[in-house]
Amino acid sequence: MTTTLLRPRPPEADAPWLPVWPASTRPAADGDLTVGGVSLADAAERFGTPVYLVDEDEVRARCRAYRAAFPEAEIHYAAKAFLCRAMAHWVEEEGLGLDVCSRGELELAVTTGFPAEHMVLHGNAKSPDELEAALRLGVGRIVIDGVAEIARIAALVPYGARQRVLLRIAPGIAAGAHPAVRTGTVDQKFGLSSTDGTAQLAIARVLEQPRLELVGLHCHLGSQIDSAKPYLQAVRRMVALMHGTRQAHGVVLPELDLGGGHAIAYRPGEDALDVRALAARVRAELRSACATVDFPEPRLLLEPGRAIAGPAGVALYRVLTVKQNGRHAFVAVDGGMSDNPRPALYGVRYAPRLVGRAASAELRPVQVVGRHCEAGDVLASGVELPADIRPGDLLAVPASGAYQVSMASGYNLVGRPPVVAVTGGTARLLVRRESLADVRSRDVGL
Ligand code: LLP
Repeated sequence: MTTTLLRPRPPEADAPWLPVWPASTRPAADGDLTVGGVSLADAAERFGTPVYLVDEDEVRARCRAYRAAFPEAEIHYAAKAFLCRAMAHWVEEEGLGLDVCSRGELELAVTTGFPAEHMVLHGNAKSPDELEAALRLGVGRIVIDGVAEIARIAALVPYGARQRVLLRIAPGIAAGAHPAVRTGTVDQKFGLSSTDGTAQLAIARVLEQPRLELVGLHCHLGSQIDSAKPYLQAVRRMVALMHGTRQAHGVVLPELDLGGGHAIAYRPGEDALDVRALAARVRAELRSACATVDFPEPRLLLEPGRAIAGPAGVALYRVLTVKQNGRHAFVAVDGGMSDNPRPALYGVRYAPRLVGRAASAELRPVQVVGRHCEAGDVLASGVELPADIRPGDLLAVPASGAYQVSMASGYNLVGRPPVVAVTGGTARLLVRRESLADVRSRDVGL
């Protein structure tokens, strides 16, 4: 792999597209870009397309930014955004814990050396083998999501031991970019409602269990939240519930987990949630909410996923066909909804860019679509690309590091893409491409 000499990062006025790319992104010769010092055209050549690149330094910098903004808090990376063994190592080395929500995530992380005591296990429907694995491996905290889970978990804790647990509360707050990712309201499947007495009942039940240690309350309001306000509202409601718990049971819960959900920008001009500003406002709100009822300030926990992995990822596709249909020019690439179901699920749109050749043709608006058998397989609408875009061209899609590879499917037996780490001018394969042999080897009957 050749390492292109790094050019300086151009000012935003000259490159308004740059803010949604990793900080290491630089223009290179012949319309190429480098990320982590690695040429995108070279990476596509070496690993094939579609391919996902993840900028290790960007991930690490984002972990550090959280720790700097919230030095008093415990930060748990939400593994569902994207997990592989290298990712688990990076976040651990940066001092973060891990939020896992399945036996798969739990065991992948544990078997690569991630300490189970720094993990939080989530899930609205944890299976018996998941709970058994969590207890056997020594997961730090389990987040209880329903009254029925309390006795089930307690019964699995060995005699003489105690499992630390948090209770997930649905605080009745609507926040998040799409109904499918709004989890703070009381009319969805997660958590225990604090407005109808269910949460209070669950708190009493957990406190009655000698093998469970209730260390605090949890809420996760939703995803792609671009304002601090819902978090401040959550702080007030959660502190009120903690205060109520002290009044009812004489117990002071020491931890408050505010979940994740911090928005990132997918396209130039979109707003990301400012983590430092969030920290300042959450801290002030917590101080004031606790002071009002003379409650000791709980230790904060946070679970960002997208805001750590998302901006570090770049997806690379090769153009397969270009055609005009009706009003639209369609540029179809060699991936799509099997590696990125987000447009189809949430109606979101991305900002792909032509890379790897100098283009002087005028720009025209096109639809960038995937190769799958659905009209909803649309990556970008009305995106301006050079009018001479043609098969063989490379398109790079920034902000692709979260909920794409982790939600990739086997649709149309296209095979899930590889993941490549880029840093310091070096590219290394982290997860290999799913091959036809992989698909065939699972298909064991006739
Ligand atoms: N904590 C809990 C309990 C969660 O359920 C989630 C995400 C997070 C933390 C991390 O949220 P983040 O900071 O990444 O927004 N597939 C959707 C997002 C689903 C999020 C599910 N839970 C998407 O592609 O937008």
